[in-house]
This record gives sequence, structure tokens and C-alpha cells, in this order.
Amino acid sequence: MKRIVISLLIVATAFNTYTASAQKASDAKMKIFIDALMKKMTLDEKIGQLNLPGSGDIVTGQAKSSDIGKKIRDGQVGGLFNIKTVAKIKEVQRVAVEESRLKIPMLFGMDVIHGYETVFPIPLGMSCTWDMTLVERSARIAANEASADGINWTFSPMVDISRDPRWGRVSEGNGEDPYLGSQIAKAMVKGYQGNDLTKNNTILSCVKHYALYGAAEAGRDYNTTDMSHQRMYNEYFPPYKAAVDAGVGSVMASFNEVDGVPATANKWLMTDVLRKQWGFKGFVVTDYTGINEMVAHGIGDLQTVSARALMAGIDMDMVGEGLLLTTKKSLQEGKVTMAQIDAACRRILEAKYKLGLFDNPYKYCDENRAKTEIFTAANRKEARSIAAQSFVLLKNQGNILPLKKAGTIALIGPLADNKENMPGTWSVAAVKENATSVLAGLQQVVGDKVKILYAKGSNLDADSILEERATMFGKTLYRDRRPDSVILKEALDIAAQSDVIVAAVGESAEMSGESSSRSDIQIPALQQKLIKALLATGKPVVLVLFTGRPLVLKWENENVPAILNVWFGGSEAGYAIADVLFGDINPSGKLSTTFPQNVGQVPLFYNHKNTGRPLGTWFEKFRSNYLDVSNEPVYPFGYGLSYSNFIYSDITLSNNLLKGNQTLTATVTLTNTGNTDGKEVVQLYIRDLAGSVTRPVKELKGFQKVVIKAGESKKISFPITTAELKFYNYDLKYDWEPGEFEIMIGGNSRDVKMAKLIWNK
Ligand code: BGC
Repeated sequence: MKRIVISLLIVATAFNTYTASAQKASDAKMKIFIDALMKKMTLDEKIGQLNLPGSGDIVTGQAKSSDIGKKIRDGQVGGLFNIKTVAKIKEVQRVAVEESRLKIPMLFGMDVIHGYETVFPIPLGMSCTWDMTLVERSARIAANEASADGINWTFSPMVDISRDPRWGRVSEGNGEDPYLGSQIAKAMVKGYQGNDLTKNNTILSCVKHYALYGAAEAGRDYNTTDMSHQRMYNEYFPPYKAAVDAGVGSVMASFNEVDGVPATANKWLMTDVLRKQWGFKGFVVTDYTGINEMVAHGIGDLQTVSARALMAGIDMDMVGEGLLLTTKKSLQEGKVTMAQIDAACRRILEAKYKLGLFDNPYKYCDENRAKTEIFTAANRKEARSIAAQSFVLLKNQGNILPLKKAGTIALIGPLADNKENMPGTWSVAAVKENATSVLAGLQQVVGDKVKILYAKGSNLDADSILEERATMFGKTLYRDRRPDSVILKEALDIAAQSDVIVAAVGESAEMSGESSSRSDIQIPALQQKLIKALLATGKPVVLVLFTGRPLVLKWENENVPAILNVWFGGSEAGYAIADVLFGDINPSGKLSTTFPQNVGQVPLFYNHKNTGRPLGTWFEKFRSNYLDVSNEPVYPFGYGLSYSNFIYSDITLSNNLLKGNQTLTATVTLTNTGNTDGKEVVQLYIRDLAGSVTRPVKELKGFQKVVIKAGESKKISFPITTAELKFYNYDLKYDWEPGEFEIMIGGNSRDVKMAKLIWNK
């Protein structure tokens, strides 16, 4: 046995040495190529590589004559973004590689955020699958489709931790937890980039928005952030770092300031942390006009802010052309150095080299792939299955769900018959006509067995101006101009004829996403009125809840018997909703964010500190609590029901006195006491009871998504090492400290079993 282990170790070491030396050889080859190319480049051409304009005016057949076409020919463009179709991209690439002096190919970027034409759930929904295989697969399919359409670079994953549901961009991220967020960051990068970027179906990934963008004050988009380095390193940085560790090829700077300096000009962030501490080797792009916006931030004129961005470690300028317009002058005036320009240019060229674009600039321009690999039946099938697994069953009183495939259903609500909204925010490549509404999904899945009656019931909001803001980018809800009472009456009429009411309500797709912050995070009042009227009929009511953020659902949780949170599930969401409502798929999603009782509790998150005056039972005077509301959420982080019923045993520890680098095993027995096979996300939390700095009341440190058959029991074990105990201390050193720990295991962050142990150095 020992001999086998030693032989395996020798093989593994030899393999590592082999891959390390192969990597060195290919890096050396790349350096020779880029050195030679850069020797030929003029200063203007080098600065040109740092420029990333939007595709703006390009129409097929006109690339050459467009303004962008001229710039490309003059060597003033390093890449373009949001240009779609092989035909257009090929045409533009041709200008670059046939008509510019040095024939340098271009990058083509796009916000491929949660799928391409086959759209997966919004990232917040995706994170609720807690299934890294699915997350990776969704990114793989997205990369495959995007690359088949000419795209070689995606501005994803977005991994900003956020604890503020007012912030519209919580929809684009993975929730509030650094551990879960890090696992997802890794899986996404792997999905997009694969193991080999020279293939024609892998694309460059870009982790964003570095850093802390999700901590915008008051949840207002683009607002200031300000936090301790302790909090940055322990709570907000981990997912960005995880993406870097996974080999992400590019990083996008965030709009917000960090420590009083906009991230785009923050040298500590871009160079000291990202490159020196984390060893990032790719390139950094600004966010959209991120350089120009620093004029408004108030740190100087365009030349000053552009120079500061370059000096901080920015390599590419998205849209604003600050670098293009001012860098030469800044060099002449000694405000930037040639070495800085060279370094940025080199990093852009390296990315193109790694993608294999110098070997074949048209490698992503295969018309045949575009015709056969996008929005395929196989991809749609995956999207349907993944969407169903992202839904979170929040309540199911009296097992109303799953519905029987019989009788009459009244499907009511402003989001019931609307395919435009299904893909959700940030689905720029989606073809809206391709998505499936709830009504169409239900009809397709159970059409001839169930009578489905439909009425809108209410508009999205009483305020038509707000509805306009919430339905931008063609995501119309076809506002019904009749009086509210008439619209409602129509719904009550069909409700009266039904056995059960399914109410598709909540937010529209563009009520979350960029620049879609809300100060009131309830279901809009007009829809609440509709829900109340439906409940008053006495018929069973199931809410199919659309949302891009945690909502305040206190009243709904107390009054509506069943709530299925479906986020925005993507192009196949309509079918997936039917699959879950009728029990063909058992829901298994778990929340990746806390749902508060009211907006005044925000930020409310599970991994908070204890404080010196923690609350016992609400209310207690002189304890950390409110007069008017308890500290509890409506739904805690990690929460989600199933049609099965899971019971956790107490925890068994392999040892409760450990030393040094030993491994601990914590085990629970999980039993499915229900009648349905199901999936459960078993979650491991740890608390470090005393540290050199204060430690959270619990932190997620592991999870397993397991399948348990009806009536079955399974032992679930977590190996725990000192790696799970580490944190950044006051000096920002990453280490663990000896002492007493609590190990907690459960089906959500609130309802856990607990065991204690001592771990000595
Ligand atoms: C967003 C980025 C996005 C970029 C390009 C910006 O407004 O903040 O997330 O990648 O636009 O579309």
C-alpha cells in the first residue's frame, strides 16, 4: 500500500514538474512573439491596444466605412464589445487583420452573463442551485454558444458580495456569502475558459466588479463604499480572489471608490492586492466609461484621471477613450512612463495570444457553428432542468404543491403571460420571442389534462411611469389601460371557476439589474391588492414569485399558503415552472441571501458579528435589537423547502480535541421522511468562539447537495482541516488560531445541529 502511495506521489510530482516546465516553455515562446511584435509598434499603436469602444454604429456590410472601421484600420482599437453575429464580427476582424498596419486581431467582448441565446436563470437564481456542476455547465454552454457566434471574451462572472437587497445588481451576483460566492466564481471561470483557451469553444472570462461594488451605501447603484480592510479581506474579496486562483484571464474594475479613491485609479487595489498579493497575470479592463467618470468623482480632469488609471494598473479603457486621447500627452509630460504603457499593451496582446487569435483571428467565426450550436434542443433541455433547480420553495402549507394534473387552474397575474420578462435582466444576446411564458409552459406541460384559465388581474404597478422604468430594453408588460377594477374583476371571474389559483406576481425583469435600485422592496401595492382579493375567494392560492432580489414578504409569508420563488429562470423558465408546480421536478433550491422582515433591517445577513450585547429573545432593553421588529429574517440564508421532508440527526465528531494539522470529520444522518425522492443541500457552518479579532456567529465552510430517496437515510460527512478555520487577522495575515469551535450542520443557516470541539496548535 505504502509503495503504491509513493509511486503515485512520484507520478504526480513528475506530472506537475512536466506541466510547470511546459508552461514555462509556452510562456517563453509567447514572450518572444510579443517582444518581436512590440518592437514594431509605434507609441500610438500601443496606446490603441488599450482602447475598447462599444460597437455603436456598426451595421453588417459597413464596418469599413464606419467611424470604428477607420479607427481599427489606424490601429486605435484593441477590442470591441456588444457586437453580435459571426457575419459582423468577421467583417470587423477582417479590417483589423487585413487593413491595419500590424494586422493585430481584436478581442470581441460581450455581457454573456447567464447564458447566450439559451438563457439560464439570473445569477442570483443560479446561485440557489448550490450545484457547482450545474453552474459550470451553464457557463460552458454559454461559452459554446457565444464562441459559435464570434464572441471570444465575456464580462462574467459578476461576483460582488451584497447584503443589500435594495441594490438592483444583487440579481447579477451570487448572494451574500463569500464561501458560496467563491465556489461559484471558480466554477464559472472553469466553465467559460475550460482547460485550453486555444480551442474555438472556450472564451476569456472577466471577473467583476473589482472591488466591493455590492457594498454601495444605501443600496443605491454607483454609490460610495467604505469599509475596513478586515471586512474586505474576509468577507468581500474572497470571490474575486477565487476567480484569480482559478486562472481568470481578465478583471473588470468597479465604478465605486475604495478607501476614498475610485477603484479604477486605486493602485493598492489594482496592483498591490490583485497582482502582488494574488499573483494575477491577466489584464484589467475598466467598467463602461469608468475612467471618464473619475472626473465627476472629483479627482481631476480627463488627462489626470486617465494617467492615474494607467498608473494604478488599468490596461484597457472601456468606451470612454480617455487613455486613447491623453496618454501620449501624459507620457510627454512625464505623468506616465513608457514602461506602464508597454506593460498594459503587453497584457492585451498576451490575452489575444493565449486565445490563439494570432494563429487564426477567425477561429470563432464559423458560420456553420453559428447555425448549429446556438439555442439547440440539447442546450434548452439543460436550461429547463437548471431553471427548475434554481427555484426556491418558500412556503407550502398543507402541501398544496405539487398541483394535481387535473381540474381547473386560474393563472392570474401581470407576469403570467409575458415571455419578454422571462430571461431576466442582463440577457443581451437573448432573442425575446424565443422565451416561454408561464401560460405557454403550463399549457405545454399539462394542456389537455388541466383546464387553464388566464387573466392579467393587475398591471405591474399602479404608477405607469414606474412601469415604464421597469420594462426597458423591450421587456414590455403590455400595460393594460382599462381601469384597475375592470382588470381585477376579470381575474376574480375566472378564479371563481377554478380549483386552484396560481398567481404569477412580483417584479418585472428590469426592476433589478443595473441602475435599478429600490427603496421599497415589497411586491408592488397594486399586486398585493390583487393577491388579497384572490385570497378572499377562499380558493387555494399559489404564488409564483418573480424577483431579482430578496423581497420583503412578511405579509405574504403569513397569509399566502404556498410561495414558489422562481427568480427569472431564463428562456425555458415557463416549462421549468410547470415542471415544479406539477411535481415532475422536486424543488431543491436554497437561498443565497437573507430575506428581511422589512427594509429597515437591511443589511441583514447570517454571518454577522455577535456584538457585546447580543440579543437573547426579542425584545430586551439594552441589547442589540429594535423596538419594533425582531432581528430574525423572514427566510434565512440557506433556506428552501422541498416536496420531501428532511430530518437531521445530531452531529457526530470523529474527535473533539484536535491538534495541529489533524483532520476532523463531522457526520450527520439525513433522513427523507417524505414520500418523494428529493435533493437536499446539507450545509456546514463553523464558529470560532474566541479570536484575536472578533469572528462571525457562523460561517459557511462546506456544503453537499445530495439525493435522498423517499424513506432513505444517508450519512453525510464533512472532512474539516485547519484550512476551514483560517481568516485574515488584524495584520491581514491569513492563519488559524487555536481554541474552541462550534461545528454546525443543517438545511439552512438558522436550523442547525451543533457540536463543540477544541483545536490546539
Ligand atoms: C456594467 C458592466 C458591464 C458593462 C458593459 C457596465 O455598465 O457595469 O457590468 O459589463 O457595462 O456592458
